[in-house]
Amino acid sequence: MFSDKSARNGHAVLESSVLARDRRHPLPKSLDLLHDPSLNKGRAFSEAERLALGLRGLLPPRITSLEDQAARVIATVRAKKTDLDRYNSLIALQDRNETLFYHVLIEHLAELMPVIYTPTIGQACQEYGHIFRRARGMYVSDSDRHHIREVLANWPNDDVRVIVVTDGERVLGLGDLGAHGMGIPVGKLSLYTACAGVNPSQCLPVTLDVGTDNEELLASPVYLGLPHERIRGEAYDGFIEEFIRAANDRFPNVLIQLEDFGNANAFRLLKKYRDQVCLFNDDIQGTAAVSLAGLLSAIRVTHKKLTDQTILLFGAGEAATGIADLIVFAMMKEGLTEEEARHHCWLMDSKGLVVAGRNDLVEHKRPYAHEHEPLPDLFSAVQSLRPTALIGASGKSSAFTQAVLSTTAQENERPIIFALSNPTQQSECTAEEAYHFTEGRAIFASGSPFPDVRMRERTITPGQANNAYVFPGIGLGIIASRSTRVTQEMFYEAAKALAGTVSSADLSKGRVFPGLDRVREVSAVIAAAVAKVAFRDGLATVEEPPDVLGWVKSQMYEPSYKSYV
Ligand code: NAI
Repeated sequence: MFSDKSARNGHAVLESSVLARDRRHPLPKSLDLLHDPSLNKGRAFSEAERLALGLRGLLPPRITSLEDQAARVIATVRAKKTDLDRYNSLIALQDRNETLFYHVLIEHLAELMPVIYTPTIGQACQEYGHIFRRARGMYVSDSDRHHIREVLANWPNDDVRVIVVTDGERVLGLGDLGAHGMGIPVGKLSLYTACAGVNPSQCLPVTLDVGTDNEELLASPVYLGLPHERIRGEAYDGFIEEFIRAANDRFPNVLIQLEDFGNANAFRLLKKYRDQVCLFNDDIQGTAAVSLAGLLSAIRVTHKKLTDQTILLFGAGEAATGIADLIVFAMMKEGLTEEEARHHCWLMDSKGLVVAGRNDLVEHKRPYAHEHEPLPDLFSAVQSLRPTALIGASGKSSAFTQAVLSTTAQENERPIIFALSNPTQQSECTAEEAYHFTEGRAIFASGSPFPDVRMRERTITPGQANNAYVFPGIGLGIIASRSTRVTQEMFYEAAKALAGTVSSADLSKGRVFPGLDRVREVSAVIAAAVAKVAFRDGLATVEEPPDVLGWVKSQMYEPSYKSYV
């Protein structure tokens, strides 16, 4: 029971703590506090806090701890019947109690990442109109044109350091989901916090609603976006320009991550803005860094050099071209000329091998259009080029057939097979197929997770080439150093740093990435590597500390309850 005296004392404590916290943003009281997910602790408010903050009677009387709450949450999540139900219950928790959400997520990251990100996020975006409960982040739509500054002014927090933004045109391998692509920036920013400790209050997910060309969504009564076709051309470019400028005015030097744009826009926007503002495209550059890291780890197993590799990329879009460009960058670091390095990388698109004789190639493919006879299909390309590494980034499920895999295995003692397409059902092959059709010799990684495979008395753990190893650490490094740009050198260093965290034990289990349970430690190492590039190349706007890794780690958000009294 609270005595009047303690109640009076409680209010005195409250006032002093509120004043000490922040005069401009005093702690809300009572129900407002329970409804603010960044402050709410649910039943974990202590007796003194309940007294001081006007919460008496608004919560069940039995007080609990963060650990007990977390144990109950994970049990509830596990009891759900489907992954989408699990996703919904986690998002509901995020909307209720952010600290508890991140506590649970970090504790069970390997288990929950596929729920809050790929593959479940794909289904969540497809069902967004039905599962949408509460808005998170910002929707900036075509109808806000010429008023985007005013719209961004509505965001309550001035200290936003990272924006993940999509226009929903190419969501995972699922195509145009319009405004329902919002699940992607929300999920990616949850990973910034869970994997790299970027403070959630500094993260802003944004969907640019420029319409959709998805007929089904346009006809759907539950579609959340503007029910018109995508704007294109000058109107689109003007809208993006207005957004980028407004975002930088509102949040100076904010890191902008472009996500799931259609490939014609993705390449153009990256090229246009990468030297103007602090911006990168994760589908192009993040994927590249994680794939290069996978390759660098794989060649520790094959005992070959990077420059010994012939890499056939199945797909010639954002992911594949980004990977090829970073491999070229890395090979040039090892002494090759750009021309020589490019000859180690071959691309295939839906029309066949990318070769010099084709006159239908868009700009990003042309540097890889080598002299070669046209080849229409992957099997003939594998036979002709005899790649050491086959990397799928096409969104075409089952493209790595038995014939393709076994032919690659005939040419290589340890064939490198990365099937990156997401979600799981789009993967070019399963882990089981990759091992089975190569007599267990494949060094395999995939975009979405696959379970362990049992082969010849051995359990092989397939690695996941998950961008979440890289982009959160890159973000943390950029934010910590307050870098003004994101450079290709940073992705190269990030890839090397990630590869450096792969242990011999990981490799002997079969995986070319560290366990996801180590991702926070890995992110810190990547962040330090990225920050060092920013310091070295004069892009950082804070002073370089003596111990960059320790300094980066000290900035990582830890989800624990703060005492309000
Ligand atoms: P995109 O749309 O830019 O490119 C797809 C490419 O695949 C195009 O060049 C297209 O011509 C080619 N393609 C499609 N069907 C084909 C076929 N039947 N034969 C040969 N080529 C074909 O898409 P983006 O961004 O490159 O993504 C591709 C896939 O990679 C998606 O499934 C995406 O989820 C996945 N991805 C995986 C990542 C990871 O695992 N870390 C990261 C980024 C993307």
